[in-house]
Amino acid sequence: MSLLITGGTGYIGSHTVVELLEQGDDVVIVDNLVNSSTKSLDRVEQITGKKSVFIEADICDKGAMRRVFNDHNISSVIHFAGLKAVGESTQIPLHYYHNNVSGTVALLEVMTEFNVKNIVFSSSATVYGENNVSPLVETMPTSATNPYGQSKLMVEHVLFDLAKSDPEWSIISLRYFNPIGAHKSGLIGENPNGIPNNLLPFVSQVAVGRLKELQVFGDDYDTVDGTGVRDYIHVVDLAKAHLKAVIALDKLPGCTAINIGTGNGTSVLQIVNKFKEISGADIPYKISPRRPGDIATVFAQANIAYDVLGWQAERGLDDMIADTWRWQSENPNGFD
Ligand code: NAD
Ligand code: UD1
Repeated sequence: MSLLITGGTGYIGSHTVVELLEQGDDVVIVDNLVNSSTKSLDRVEQITGKKSVFIEADICDKGAMRRVFNDHNISSVIHFAGLKAVGESTQIPLHYYHNNVSGTVALLEVMTEFNVKNIVFSSSATVYGENNVSPLVETMPTSATNPYGQSKLMVEHVLFDLAKSDPEWSIISLRYFNPIGAHKSGLIGENPNGIPNNLLPFVSQVAVGRLKELQVFGDDYDTVDGTGVRDYIHVVDLAKAHLKAVIALDKLPGCTAINIGTGNGTSVLQIVNKFKEISGADIPYKISPRRPGDIATVFAQANIAYDVLGWQAERGLDDMIADTWRWQSENPNGFD
């Protein structure tokens, strides 16, 4: 039996594939390469000494997905495939809804045809919206402020309704907080197209001199130093949460949403200072206006992950930043 990993050549997917291969699992990857390349798979093979099966296909293409399920004996799916740029999602919302929502529905329909009813979904802390106060708990009301977040929330609704309609489904929706870091080998990491939107890729590109200076979006929040606070989670810890989730599917019918964070908050300036200390690089920054849609503080309550999955984060901020820096400084142009 194999695990199907959609979006497996991307940032979180490639780190998860490393952990799965090292655990001895057989892995089939489907990715349309819209935001990644197969170079990550060469690196995964270099790290693990093992091969996975790669199929270039779009999850929206039911014919192609049927062939994948026909040709491989799939036990469970880890579903990373999706578009994730918040700003872009406000410009081309239909594309985001088609890819992320219709694509997931198409995948679920093909899974139903082949009687594969176990899935782990990549959700996001963005589903908690703007109105909840951290620590964020899975039972809090959800909402979304942009089409990307809405697409995650819509898929969660689809998954809850599906599980209610058919007790054979086991579904875990992992709500990631802020994934950062890279594999300790320095061979794989986050490789954003164009100017990064997220803090860590931006800071690391300033540190290697690809970008001139960081804009710190607001220093007048009610936080430790006025800058935004987030729950950063090492991508390898996040990858390991997926391995635990796949195991938990067997004894957890229905649909369960689970936060994947550390439970700790770190401010933008704390990140910048830690990055300077670890890299030795200069990180020029200027204080800019708040970014629309941002809130002051976001961090998880991570108890459910521990109670249900037996998972907790093991890597601290020093590891997250040292590993980000190793990846960025050894691969200043990503995989190119
Ligand atoms: P990524 O862009 O590196 O990986 C996503 C992969 O999915 C890419 O390789 C892309 O080519 C592929 N893909 C996109 N649409 C596809 C389609 N229709 N068919 C086949 N493949 C397709 O992103 P990531 O950071 O690894 O994120 C993985 C998942 O986790 C995404 O669903 C994302 O929304 C979610 N997520 C990410 C973060 C984050 O900060 N990185 C936070 C919360 C949730
Ligand atoms: C953002 C998205 C969120 C998505 C998440 C992971 C927005 C409003 N939210 O969350 O939906 O799930 O990424 O992909 O885009 N910052 C700077 N300068 C920068 C970049 C960021 O000061 O150049 C600050 C932000 O204001 C924030 C913190 O750094 O306080 C983290 O930002 P980011 O990495 O973009 O993550 P989120 O805002 O948590």
